[in-house]
Amino acid sequence: MNTPGLSIAIMAAGKGTRLKSKRPKVLHEIGGRALLLHVIAAAREVVPADQIYCIIGHEADRVRAAVEATGVEFVLQPEQRGTGHALQMVKAFFALSGEEVPQNLLVLSGDVPLIRPETIQQIYKAHRRENAAMTILTAIPTDPTGYGRIIRAEPGTQTPDVNAIVEQKSLRPDQLDTQEINSGIYCFRTKALFDKLDLLDTKNAHGEFYLTDIAAMLVADGERVIATQAESVDEVLGANTIAEMMHLDAAMRLATARRLMANGVTIFRPETTVIDAEVEVGADTVIEPYVQLLGATKIGSDCRIRSYSVIQDTVIGDNVTVRNGCIMDTATIADGAILGPYAHLRPESRIGAAAHVGNFVETKKVTLGAGSKANHLNYLGDAVIGAGVNVGAGAITCNYDGARKHQTTIGDNVFVGSDSTLVAPVTIESGSYIAAGSCITDDVPSGSLAFGRARQVVKPGWVAAHEKTLKNGK
Ligand code: UD1
Ligand code: CA
Repeated sequence: MNTPGLSIAIMAAGKGTRLKSKRPKVLHEIGGRALLLHVIAAAREVVPADQIYCIIGHEADRVRAAVEATGVEFVLQPEQRGTGHALQMVKAFFALSGEEVPQNLLVLSGDVPLIRPETIQQIYKAHRRENAAMTILTAIPTDPTGYGRIIRAEPGTQTPDVNAIVEQKSLRPDQLDTQEINSGIYCFRTKALFDKLDLLDTKNAHGEFYLTDIAAMLVADGERVIATQAESVDEVLGANTIAEMMHLDAAMRLATARRLMANGVTIFRPETTVIDAEVEVGADTVIEPYVQLLGATKIGSDCRIRSYSVIQDTVIGDNVTVRNGCIMDTATIADGAILGPYAHLRPESRIGAAAHVGNFVETKKVTLGAGSKANHLNYLGDAVIGAGVNVGAGAITCNYDGARKHQTTIGDNVFVGSDSTLVAPVTIESGSYIAAGSCITDDVPSGSLAFGRARQVVKPGWVAAHEKTLKNGK
């Protein structure tokens, strides 16, 4: 869309008192991403980042740090004296910086996170078509309580004109059943807005400068203020309480699940899954109930992810089976691998093609080669393990000496007997065998058999002799 005369301001300075949380409201997350980042992402689809002005105030440094990488501009509102005051700061910013004032200014709320770029464009189009001074995005939710209400000029007609926005606490008895709400999202002719901002007062229930009062002020001047309704109500719902936020979180995650299903992924009981917004999954993969796919996780095609697995920032190839209850964080899994049940893949675990990592196996900073198997009760940390290796039940790497971490290197086709302890740093060259129960402290050359345990002693008839001793009381 061609939007040279348009800039976007995002109000994100408020504290969010109703959340009763230490975290600034706009940094609370839905779908695994901060509210404000959702809003910025939508805005960036419409205008370049340097035409987006993010108004910050409460915990400004923290908010800035969280969204800075998007490249948006910041406007400081040191005291939060209302939404009208927030826009006064934008006006002052333009005056001070000498930046050219854009013809139109679209205002978004940092706490209305499901807004889509298509809707932002819809507002801008209506605004220009109707030659309005102010265009308000509105909706009719099932319960309008708490929102500002839209007082239409000609209710019940197609005329889009609005006389005023009235906040919940200021509604007159005859206005109480007004169903149409103000989304807190608007487009202004910037000059019309800036001319009125200094005339706002704080004579209202909250003692704040209300941006919403601008509507009636413009109408009094003979300017046009119009409403345009959002296609979906969910899109304009605010997040003022944790409960409201979790409602939006569920809506967003369900939308993500639907996007994946539309691309050929099967998700049983999608309402039980927790899937972050940026997750990608290939066609014909099946996701069972109660699975969490988080962060930048990417899963290939024809995989099966069984119930109760929690997968964070992990890349999984094609044809991979993740059995029940696996936990993965920042791991890479090649095609055809089989994991779990109850495998724990910690950061930098690289599992090779068709490798197996089984029950109660923990891996960390490990490369496990193609076709290698660690199927039962292992700990593999700081190790490079070749292809075709069999790690027997209970075998572990001893990678930590109490102060430092050390490396274990295992060549191709090594057989590590059950319950072995490999004391790093240690190298086991290709094709060798480690006898079960060994404690391996020295390097093992290629093709050898290494024992590291006491030789077995058998005493025939010992039990009977022992019992006789006990009977005689000796
Ligand atoms: C506002 C609207 C209300 C609308 C609702 C939609 C006003 C007076 N009311 O009410 O009509 O139905 O949004 O969600 O505008 N903020 C600042 N600086 C401030 C105060 C707020 O940047 O000084 C930011 C907040 O961080 C938030 C946004 O502005 O992102 C809205 O503020 P909030 O206090 O949540 O307004 P509502 O009471 O929801
Ligand atoms: Ca709000």
